Amino acid sequence: MGNKVVGIGLESSCDETAVAIVADGKTILSHAIFSQIHLHKEYYGVVPEIASRAHLEVINDLIDHCLQEASITFKDLSYVAATYRPGLVGSLLVALQSAKAISFTMSIPLISVHHLEAHLYAPFLEGHGIEFPFIGLLVSGGNTALYCVHDYGNLELLGNTTDDAVGEAFDKVAKFLSLGYPGGPIIEKLASQATLKKPIFPKILSDSNETYSFSYSGLKTAVINYIHDHPDADVCEIAYSFQERALEILVRRLFDASKRLKINTLVIAGGVASNKRLRELIFEKKKDFHTIFFPSPILCTDNGAMVAGIGYQYYKKGLYSPLSIDVKARP
Ligand code: KG4
Repeated sequence: MGNKVVGIGLESSCDETAVAIVADGKTILSHAIFSQIHLHKEYYGVVPEIASRAHLEVINDLIDHCLQEASITFKDLSYVAATYRPGLVGSLLVALQSAKAISFTMSIPLISVHHLEAHLYAPFLEGHGIEFPFIGLLVSGGNTALYCVHDYGNLELLGNTTDDAVGEAFDKVAKFLSLGYPGGPIIEKLASQATLKKPIFPKILSDSNETYSFSYSGLKTAVINYIHDHPDADVCEIAYSFQERALEILVRRLFDASKRLKINTLVIAGGVASNKRLRELIFEKKKDFHTIFFPSPILCTDNGAMVAGIGYQYYKKGLYSPLSIDVKARP
């Protein structure tokens, strides 16, 4: 591996077991993701007990596979990084405990990574340099949050959802319409087939002074009530109108924060960031002075590369974790 610093990243915070080997925090040498969607589909959401057991069953094979594909052994690793928060406790434990075992056995630093910070690092695995500060919008099945990222490990939370996460709202609306799971990609597809494109649902939250909160339970209830009152309504029109409202608030908050804080580098990450309509709405509002980063769809979802990538930055700064570190459910 020459002079390169090679690290392994392990991720199991929710329903994807993911491992990756990354050189110098930017070159992905190998990566593997085991998605558990098929195990949770019938429940329309992630079942924690099923998730943690499934992580345990596959993580060792994924690690072996990644080492082989990168043509290295454990001895070539300079550090091991794992997500330790936030997420499902039983799930988080699988990656963190595996990382502790590798760290202890190979005498290499253990680096515990904040899942949301890792997501925001994803675009920088694709050849872009990072300029701090930037505004980070994290949109997934478990989180909807806006950050001002000042440096590695220095994230200032600007606003959060007060109830459901945006991805969760897509999933719940899809569940109510019996469309399947995960709901995001299905609703996006149906929305693109709408023809009338009339607004059905009200705008979420007005502009408030310097707060960047999000809320999805009102919109979700509005959709459910509408379907009760209009059982013959066109599902594509419902999907379109729901999606417009769900995404509009994200775009509004993102650009409000950019304007107020005078920060023009914007990073959007997490599963919902693969939504093409979200990208379109953001690029419609973008001005010449904005620089916008979206990870490619494979790096939007949970993955090990983002963990190994941000782990490298911690490694360079000597920010190691003790073996006594524990997982945490909350952000
Ligand atoms: O980041 P992620 O893979 O997993 C975690 O939440 O940890 O995000 C999954 C979420 C699900 O709620 C899914 O419905 C949503 O992202 N999602 C989308 C799209 N693709 C995935 N939501 C809207 N549009 C999409 N194209």
